[in-house]
Amino acid sequence: MANNKHYMEDFVHANKLILLGKLTASLVHEIRNPLSAIKLNLDYMNMAKDDLPNDIQEIVGESLDAFDQVSFLIEDVLDFTRKPSAKIHEVDIDQVTNRCLKIISVSAKTKGVTIEKCIPLELPKLNVNKNKMMQVLLNLINNAIEASHDKGKIIVRAFEENEKHQPKVVWQVQDFGCGIKEEDKKKIIGKYFTTKSKGNGIGLGVCKMLTDEMNSDLSFDSNYGEGSTFTLKFTV
Ligand SMILES: Nc1ncnc2c1ncn2[C@@H]1O[C@H](COP(=O)(O)OP(=O)(O)OP(=O)(O)O)[C@@H](O)[C@H]1O
Ligand SMILES: [Mg+2]
Repeated sequence: MANNKHYMEDFVHANKLILLGKLTASLVHEIRNPLSAIKLNLDYMNMAKDDLPNDIQEIVGESLDAFDQVSFLIEDVLDFTRKPSAKIHEVDIDQVTNRCLKIISVSAKTKGVTIEKCIPLELPKLNVNKNKMMQVLLNLINNAIEASHDKGKIIVRAFEENEKHQPKVVWQVQDFGCGIKEEDKKKIIGKYFTTKSKGNGIGLGVCKMLTDEMNSDLSFDSNYGEGSTFTLKFTV
């Protein structure tokens, strides 16, 4: 039993690393060189700051702050790679979605895909593990990007719903990409099934496992050639 638990943890972690690999490959490639050049120049200007006019001093300060923001973003990505604790957090679904969209923005931009977000501010908080939740959202958004055509659109939305007098928070990602063939629909979750040349077919299996652990529900609706919507339902 203990072994099985460890195996599952390793399985989830392996998926995380695969996902991270995909994200960072494009991220690091695009930002590493220009970023270090910018930082060097800014530090150089900052050393001589007493000789600079006030407005330029201000600009250098603002630029160094902006640089810090990028560093935080990189920290977020690194934080995501750590194995999750079993800790339950009060999660703001809008904030977690924003973090995921930031992390994934480079993959989206590379493909010219725009992501629209429609989440009202007053949604109830969820009692879940934030790291697990991020892993699920990132897998689903990443699949939506991979399914989209170049310059396509993705909509991420969340809303409240009453199901049999039980309040639920619903989170959805909708794409207008390739869609899923009828005969594939039964295979895509938890069967190591992939239609991608570089796919591993474990993303949705991991999502299913994590949503079960979070006491939430994962479902999807798709029309081949038109697009898909993946839905998460959380009990509030
Ligand atoms: N939004 C989507 N649109 C169309 N097909 C999808 C979508 N999401 C998942 N699929 C289908 O489900 C399959 C399984 O998805 P899953 O995320 O488990 O694996 P993968 O994306 O192929 O590989 P990885 O393990 O890297 O995530 C995909 O190969 C694809 O055929
Ligand atoms: Mg996937």
